[in-house]
Amino acid sequence: MRTQKGVPRKEDIVFRHSTRPLVVGLCALVAAAPAAPALAIPAGGAPPPAPHTADRALHAQTLADLTPTMKGEAYAYAAYSLFAAEADRQDHTAVGKLFRSTAQTELTEHLREAATLAGTVGSNAANLRQAISGETYEHQIMYRRFAEQARADGDLQAAKLFSEITADEGRHRDAFRTALTVVTTGRGTIPAPPKADVVAVPAGLPKVKAARTKANLDTAMHGEGLAHAKYMLFAAHARQTGNTALARLWEGTAKVELHEHFAGEAVLAGLVRTTGRTCARPSPGSTTRRPPCTRGSPSAPPPSATLPPPATGATPPPTRPGTPPPSKRHSTSCADRPGHTRRPAHAPRGSPAD
Ligand SMILES: [Fe+2]
Ligand SMILES: [Fe+2]
Ligand SMILES: [Fe+2]
Repeated sequence: MRTQKGVPRKEDIVFRHSTRPLVVGLCALVAAAPAAPALAIPAGGAPPPAPHTADRALHAQTLADLTPTMKGEAYAYAAYSLFAAEADRQDHTAVGKLFRSTAQTELTEHLREAATLAGTVGSNAANLRQAISGETYEHQIMYRRFAEQARADGDLQAAKLFSEITADEGRHRDAFRTALTVVTTGRGTIPAPPKADVVAVPAGLPKVKAARTKANLDTAMHGEGLAHAKYMLFAAHARQTGNTALARLWEGTAKVELHEHFAGEAVLAGLVRTTGRTCARPSPGSTTRRPPCTRGSPSAPPPSATLPPPATGATPPPTRPGTPPPSKRHSTSCADRPGHTRRPAHAPRGSPAD
């Protein structure tokens, strides 16, 4: 789901979704963790899919800005969902709920509204053509190049993952092509959805060393996040139009994009850190001091986070990420809070995905 460029565009770099209010709020919650009240999780049914077309014509630049906007929102949903699971695991319940509810806002409000403006959702055939274009680009160009670059830079784990995803994207493209034939001719069978090999995301440091590999992982995660979000919107449209088999194909593929591709890349990128570190992560230009650490044992083993289960049925996207599996009590330690310069999770980079 992906634009045809492999490098960040100007608007991608310019766009920054402010995380300062969230970070400040999280820090306050961590500081007061034992007494912090639980935050409400959005309830009720999932929103309807985005309308097919934009309500009115947009300025070309505005339309162009919507793509990086959606990438940022989709990425934020995926990252915050992982952070929520991590916070839960560390018994920062209120922080987990804040991350989870914020993740839902990114997906069900911000991304969906941007998709509505952009007219992202079309007919089933148009949606399939859009996806085929993106998958073809990722299969033939983007992930092949990322794999070659990672190999050249000595990041062999990343090279292996990029190569595996290259093959997956080719299968996605082929399945969508078959589905398009069925949709446009009425003959044949919609392929069965792929099965995702769900990847757990342990808290930890990056497992790659080259700056180029890190940048490519970031680009790839934004593309995977957007692919997941779009496919869930496409699935809702397919269900609304009575094509249940196509909806299942979209949902199954969306699950692969999020739980396998995004998650695998997040592991190598070291996206998930302990909640204290996430909280202490400064916003761009922020001079906010880190909050006091209130709990923790620096010797505790790193936990593992997983993304929420995918939505099923006609509910795109999930109204609430799933509860992570029970885990050992884990803690956040002041000793585990060195200063760092990672970008906040919500600051998107350019992505070739569209
Ligand atoms: Fe947002
Ligand atoms: Fe894909
Ligand atoms: Fe993917």
